[in-house]
Amino acid sequence: MCGIFAYLNHLVEKDRRFIVTTLLNGLARLEYRGYDSAGIAINGDKDDQILTYKHVGKVSALRQKVAADTRLDLDHAFMTHTGVAHTRWATHGQPSQVNAHPQRSDPHSEFIVVHNGIITNFKELRAVLEKKGYVFESETDTECIAKLTKYLFDSQKGGKPLTFSALVKAVIKELEGAFAIIVKSVHFPNEIVATRRGSPLLVGVKTDKKLKVDFVDVEFANETPDKLAEDEANLLSPTDPQHPTIRRSQSRAFLSEDGLPQPMEYFIASDPSAIVEHTKRVLYLEDDDIGHIAEGELHIHRMRRDDGMSSIRSIQTLEMEIAEIMKGSFDHFMQKEIYEQPESVVNTMRGRINFDTRTVSLGGLRAYLPAIRRCRRIVFIACGSSFNACLATRAIFEELTEIPVNVELASDFLDRRTPIFRDDVCVFVSQSGETIDAIQALRYCNDRGALTVGVTNTVGSSISRETKCGIHINAGPEIGVASTKAYTSQYIGLILVALQLSEDRISMAQRRFDIIDDLAKLPLYIKETLALDQELKALAKHLLIKEKSLLIMGRGYQHAACLEGALKIKEVSYMHSEGILAGELKHGPLALVDEAMPVILIMTRDSLYPKVQAALRQVAARKARPIILCNQGDAAIADTDTVIRVPQLVDCLQGLVTVIPLQLMAYHLAVLHGVDVDFPRNGMPLAEMLTVE
Ligand code: AGP
Ligand code: GLU
Repeated sequence: MCGIFAYLNHLVEKDRRFIVTTLLNGLARLEYRGYDSAGIAINGDKDDQILTYKHVGKVSALRQKVAADTRLDLDHAFMTHTGVAHTRWATHGQPSQVNAHPQRSDPHSEFIVVHNGIITNFKELRAVLEKKGYVFESETDTECIAKLTKYLFDSQKGGKPLTFSALVKAVIKELEGAFAIIVKSVHFPNEIVATRRGSPLLVGVKTDKKLKVDFVDVEFANETPDKLAEDEANLLSPTDPQHPTIRRSQSRAFLSEDGLPQPMEYFIASDPSAIVEHTKRVLYLEDDDIGHIAEGELHIHRMRRDDGMSSIRSIQTLEMEIAEIMKGSFDHFMQKEIYEQPESVVNTMRGRINFDTRTVSLGGLRAYLPAIRRCRRIVFIACGSSFNACLATRAIFEELTEIPVNVELASDFLDRRTPIFRDDVCVFVSQSGETIDAIQALRYCNDRGALTVGVTNTVGSSISRETKCGIHINAGPEIGVASTKAYTSQYIGLILVALQLSEDRISMAQRRFDIIDDLAKLPLYIKETLALDQELKALAKHLLIKEKSLLIMGRGYQHAACLEGALKIKEVSYMHSEGILAGELKHGPLALVDEAMPVILIMTRDSLYPKVQAALRQVAARKARPIILCNQGDAAIADTDTVIRVPQLVDCLQGLVTVIPLQLMAYHLAVLHGVDVDFPRNGMPLAEMLTVE
């Protein structure tokens, strides 16, 4: 999910040049998060005017677009102004100027919205608004928010006028999904409302004056001031700064000694890296907080007082510098993205699984399900980690659909000029959606009339556009060269496709339910496995760092995890590693095994466990002392061995957890080898992505 930035000056004179530069530099600070388009919205020369500039591609292109507008008087000074900016990572609608944010409510931009996240009920909202005569111009889910805001604003005309925050409160009541949004309107000049649910948003505060208090009171919709006073008078001593006798109906933080609003500047962003150069005084909004800035004051509203939720939001001091903030508390993007997986797997499933009814709904495939179910075979075509994700799900695809499945490396598929027919379904899995081997294979299959399906992480990418149908994995931008969160999200995306394809098979119902029930546990199980990090770092340091090679063995569903772990280790630590199908050991690879050869054996509980035990005996007979990656509570494996224990999941999902220790081990081996993890040789240099004008 990408970047939001807003800048407000109140009783601080700033010209438009400063304001536009501040907005664009704020976006440039967010570029590292990856994006496909950008836009800003600023005040026009009159209060009832909002000017928006949007552009596909880099922030620098947007900067040029603004500079090229000769009608724009950059010397125009404002004592008070609200500017909003956005970098988009498309989830609904191609990267294009019309789909870029800000999205508007109408041709006059009465309301404009910037949004990070996914509105899962946007289709229903759009249908209702279209019936009421609203004409949509973009393909985004975000546009619904802007038009719904205008609809609710127009509907209250004649009645008691809503405040801006009350209006937005009414809007977000209708929204489902994850969002961080900022709304600006000509009806509420020089005000801004910012709110979030499942996507971060924070407010930086800058003033020359000392703030009266270092917190902002939360104002609850369902509590009248006297009710509030009564409740709190019973709880707080009169000296407590929160005691209602000194509570005012407004935030005390931003009033000067004489009680008048004071000169203030606010910076709102989805990431502190865009704020810290302006101020280190920040306040983090909580989910369903509605931040409303008007007349230089920040108010925070909530629908209701939630148990345990604090009634203030403290203004903290950021200690980190920009570089650190971009990676958060992590040293590298690869590490950050490994740790993002409890969240990214949720984003992949968001709005697609109903865990109560245990059903799956993939909008991008629905029209094609009958054709796919009738096909002669399914051919997965991919490269690298994406290939491994296909391999990981081949067996469950075949089991649930009873359709034969081939998994092809795109380069070899093309070299062989593999026969492809009209009754084939070819599935292209690609994080970037721009891997040339996969694109060429896609065009080869399209030319032969096959039904092509795309599973990508990049909306508007070549593969996303040139396949007949498909889904986006919504893992968010993956900056690290080594694919980690994209791998697990691709894996889950493919599982979702298999589940939906088999929904017409009653005989598979229980199997599907078991899988869906375990998908619900996945974020927690990944978190539990990430807790092994220090243990894995020690393993890498004491057992593996001096080794020249490492064999990773597994069978069935775990074969893909072996290949993926070996690929990670090769790619970022330059140490040779090989993923081996345990069933193949006796056909040659066993000759490599002796007491000097490090081996990791994945031995999780599934139907092949006895066969993997046989492989363990084979390598032990050659004096190897394998590291065993097994399930928690598996008493058959003594703790005397070097053991990595992970939570147990249904067999076809277990690989989503066994890959995590391998990702972490690869990361630590790379750091121990002194490799700059985010700049591995033969990978796309991060510098190209991090250029900040
Ligand atoms: C994985 O860590 C590597 N970066 C590489 O193997 C990658 O998976 C492969 O190049 C495919 O990329 P794609 O998913 O963007 O098509
Ligand atoms: N879902 C919105 C869109 O596709 C926002 C995507 C984002 O987080 O940038 O426009």
